[in-house]
Amino acid sequence: MTSSVLLTGGTGTLGRLVTPMLRDAGCHVRVLSRRGHEPGDGIEFVTGDLATGEGIDAAVHGVETILHCAGSSKGDEDKARNLVRAATGAGAPHLVYISVVGAERIPVVSGVDRAMFGYFASKRAAECVVADSGLPWTTLRATQFHDLVLMVARQLAKLPLIPVPAGFRFQPVDAAEVATRLVELSLGTPSGFVPDIAGPRIYGVTELVRSYLRATQRRRLIMPVKLPGKAAGALRAGANLAPEQAVGHRTWEDFLAERLPLAVQR
Ligand SMILES: NC(=O)c1ccc[n+]([C@@H]2O[C@H](COP(=O)([O-])OP(=O)(O)OC[C@H]3O[C@@H](n4cnc5c(N)ncnc54)[C@H](OP(=O)(O)O)[C@@H]3O)[C@@H](O)[C@H]2O)c1
Repeated sequence: MTSSVLLTGGTGTLGRLVTPMLRDAGCHVRVLSRRGHEPGDGIEFVTGDLATGEGIDAAVHGVETILHCAGSSKGDEDKARNLVRAATGAGAPHLVYISVVGAERIPVVSGVDRAMFGYFASKRAAECVVADSGLPWTTLRATQFHDLVLMVARQLAKLPLIPVPAGFRFQPVDAAEVATRLVELSLGTPSGFVPDIAGPRIYGVTELVRSYLRATQRRRLIMPVKLPGKAAGALRAGANLAPEQAVGHRTWEDFLAERLPLAVQR
């Protein structure tokens, strides 16, 4: 039987990888976006905005599963609330959510925490909206995607002197591996919180930036800066890592070599 899936965030880094996987698994895929898109490759598009709730009732209509990959740096709890409200009136589909490793462990209590790490609090609040929704649900937490690390490194490399948060480490994971796991979860039964997905290795932030600089043959000074606040302290203690869940296979080095093929890898 063909399963009907609403994919939010289907135009993003993760969602673009999920879309063909769901289609190839035999699902009817409906992608939600704030902008209009021509249907193609067996994918239906609907227009709506999770932040305002506009268009969401129509988007959830008739689906058995919602894979919620839409997100931004702020307000993911409001997006989740609007999605849950619509889904509740649409026959209780299985809601699958992608969150971030450390969401429940990174304390965002002060203004400083919120300014720098409000994202984690917003993901935690969205997790709670999903878990308390009354819908059948599954939530997967992932570490940072290689693509995000690359994007940040690119931005930082524009500076002559690169400040990095002292003591921070990351365990980047391949977005395609996260996509594969999300598709598996979407085709399965509701499972609540499932084990985290994290990349195969942990790197210091300086090591990540240096490897990008090397790969693009740039020279920069890197200056570690100790960030204030409880959230930064939790990150220095590794709250964003899942060493026991280093299940990803593709390394940061593999990813860099593919994305920057002309670069000299030393
Ligand atoms: N990137 C990471 O390292 C990482 C790590 C762990 C978890 N995650 C989570 O994984 C999810 C996907 O991340 P990503 O990096 O693929 O994101 P992304 O590339 O920034 O894409 C964001 C997606 O969200 C959609 N979106 C944003 N605001 C929306 C709104 N108000 N209404 C409807 N759609 C909206 C966008 O769709 P349109 O622009 O087409 O409307 C787009 O498809 C997010 O929930 C993120 O928190 C990411």
